Parts: sequence; structure tokens; C-alpha cells
Amino acid sequence: MNVHDSEKILGVLEPEGFLQTNNPRSADLIIFNTCSIRQKAEQKFYSELGRIKSYKKLNPRLKIAVAGCIAQQEGKNIFKRAPHVDFVFGPQNISALKHFVADGYVPVAIEENPLIAIEDLPARRSAGISAWVTIMYGCNNFCSYCVVPYTRGRERSRPSEHIVAEVSKIAEEGYREITLLGQNVNSYESDVDFPGLLRKLDRVGGIERIRFVTSHPKDLSTALINAIKELPKICEHIHLPLQSGSTAILKMMSRRYSFEDYIEKVAALRAKIPDISITSDIIAGFPGETDEDHRLTLKALREIEFDGTFAFKFSPRPGTKAAKMQGNLTEEMKSERLYEILVLQDTITEKKNNALVGAIQEVLIEGPSENGNGNLTGRTRTNKIVDIWADDIIKGALVDVEIIKGRRHSLEGKLVG
Ligand code: 5AD
Ligand code: SF4
Repeated sequence: MNVHDSEKILGVLEPEGFLQTNNPRSADLIIFNTCSIRQKAEQKFYSELGRIKSYKKLNPRLKIAVAGCIAQQEGKNIFKRAPHVDFVFGPQNISALKHFVADGYVPVAIEENPLIAIEDLPARRSAGISAWVTIMYGCNNFCSYCVVPYTRGRERSRPSEHIVAEVSKIAEEGYREITLLGQNVNSYESDVDFPGLLRKLDRVGGIERIRFVTSHPKDLSTALINAIKELPKICEHIHLPLQSGSTAILKMMSRRYSFEDYIEKVAALRAKIPDISITSDIIAGFPGETDEDHRLTLKALREIEFDGTFAFKFSPRPGTKAAKMQGNLTEEMKSERLYEILVLQDTITEKKNNALVGAIQEVLIEGPSENGNGNLTGRTRTNKIVDIWADDIIKGALVDVEIIKGRRHSLEGKLVG
């Protein structure tokens, strides 16, 4: 989502005459697009921001901006902490950037009330075959650990005809795959609901594959499962964050589903779409998490066998309910639990990848491979990376590949036919 926000920032700046550079020392404008989902990302940003201060001595014209969720959260406080920053704007104020540029970078922080809606901002996408498309902004869920509803505001869905128009344009530009973005795409609601939107997008010529992130388990409907099954372009992959295998912890997280509810959704998905790949997010060491709760998470991973997970240590975020909860675990304990989760999931991912050996998979070629397992790399419909050795195949080609080896984070294959 943040990478796509950066594409929107570029989309606003390019018409103002700015060009992207790979050399920050020669830049006249440096924008930090920040993330505040966990403390680690925030610490990294502040140390980078300090490092870049000396660049102003090298180039007195240099202006420094802070964008993204830390900007939204901290507002003017950033100027106190880092006086070398010239302006600050949140994710809901990307379009305001051109005013800062036009006004000669007056130090301003926009904290609330977006100046102009970000809907339909042009994005400057990096060349490739896969493009991100925002279908909705914000989140209404207020999971107790999460800062997103505070930084990105309430849920707003873009009208479906705007999304269809953007996707048609993307297809004309040569992209073959789109990933629809929203904090909770399942609650998309405009003239149509999310399955309705998928039905409209499935008809856009030139696009071969449609993906979407993220799905909240409580809103995963039978209509969506049917859409994934029936519509040829919708890929058989769903990212469905579980967060914890303990219903007691899920309650503390305000997730509004029990572990049993989650299992039912997984069973419904697999009953209709047996080959679907399911990935997830897990938080290790939520306040009050007991040994038994943690054991239930490990048990859940074994029982569900996700194709992959992202796991994180709980990080208290300012302003969230969980940050004020009792029963914080030590860093050491959180690290231990995270480690156990990662090790277990690695063995499961490897097992699942190995089980694909001999299978024929449709692969969309994304470009040259850099890990030495092939000269080309691409992805299966289930979002697994496949490396192959092949000549005369171009980026954007859809090819049938036989899987010959399963690795922990990728597959190796050979062309069929
Ligand atoms: N601490 C740890 N992980 C978090 N996530 C969100 N907020 C926090 C937090 N405060 C994780 C969740 C979410 C993913 C995007 O980031 O697992 O699904
Ligand atoms: Fe955060 Fe996702 Fe929960 Fe929204 S649904 S509050 S973005 S974790």
C-alpha cells in the first residue's frame, strides 16, 4: 500500500516538473514515505531522517518532506524533533503536495481534513506487468493493536466505474495483472459490493490476472468465495490474517471472530476451491498472551497449514487500546514466541512447496531471475515464485510450467511443451 502511495506521490510531482533520481545526494527534494504500523519501522525512519540532515549542507536547495502514517500521526511534532524537515503531509493529503511545491515549500503540517480527496489521484507506476489499484481507503475496524484507522481515517470506497476506467487504462498501457488494494476489501461498498466489483473487472480485456489484499475473515462471504471460483481471472489466493489461534486473544484484539469461525471460513474456501493458497498474518506476544494462547497459535498453524505467513512481535502503537492494556510481555518472550512461529511456518511452507513437485502450473513471467535457480522468474496463480530456465520468453508471457523442485521461499520449474 505504501509503495503504491509513493507511486501516487510521483504521479502528483511529475506534472510539476520533478524527475525521480536514484542518487539522494543530488536531489532537490527528498520525501520519506513512512509507515507506523510497528515501532521498528518508525525507529528506522528517524535514524534515516537524522542521517540525511547533512545532505542539506551539500545542497542548500534541498527540501525534505515527511509523508505517510508517521506524518499523519505526529503532524507538527516532527518539526520539533527534526527542524531540518520542510513539510509534513499524511496519506490522506497526497494531492496537497502540489500546493507545497507551488508555494515554495512553506513548512506546513496537514494533520486533518484532507484538502482535496485523494480519490483518482494519478499514479506513476513503475514499468512492469503488475499494477496496484486502490479500491478503498481507510478502515473502520479498530482492531485494538492497530494504528491504521487513526492514520488513514474511515473507510471510503471508490465508485466502481472509476476503478474499471483505471484498470482499462492500465491494460492499454501493457500491464497484465492487477492487485486491488484496501485495508479490508471485503467491505468494499459503492454501487456494487466487492464480488460485484470483481465481476465487472473480470471483463476488462488485456488483464489476465486479478489479485486483492487484504481480506478480513469476519467479512469473507460465500458470494466472494463463489466469485473466486467462477471468475477466470481472479487468482486462487487469499491473504486472510488470523493474528492469533486463541479465541480469548482474538477477543482482546477486537477481531470479531473466534478461531472456530476462522476455521469454518478456511473449510468453506477449500471445499469450493481445493487448490486455493491461503496466507496469513500472526502477531506474537499480544498483551496478556499466555503460554497456552501461544500454543494454540502454533496448533492453528499446524492445523491450517498456511502457504505462508507474515509474523510480527506485538508493538504497542500510540493511541491504540492495546497500548494501554496490562500484561505486556518482555521483548525476550515476544522474540522467543516469534521465532517458534517462524520456524514452524517455514517447515510448513517448505512441505507445501514440495508437494507441488510434478504439478503443472500457469506462470506469468515477471522478468529475469536473480537467485541463480533460473534465468526467468514469475508467479503461479497462487502467488508462488517460480524460477525457470528458458529462452525466447518475454516478460508478461503466460506459460505452463512443471514444478521440479520445492524450496522454502520459491519453486523451480521447467517449461511444458
Ligand atoms: N504490532 C504488531 N503487528 C501489527 N500489525 C498491525 N499492527 C500491529 C502491531 N501494533 C500486523 C497485523 C496486520 C499486519 C499488516 O501488521 O498482523 O495484519
Ligand atoms: Fe488494522 Fe486491518 Fe484491523 Fe483495519 S482490519 S484495524 S487495518 S488490522
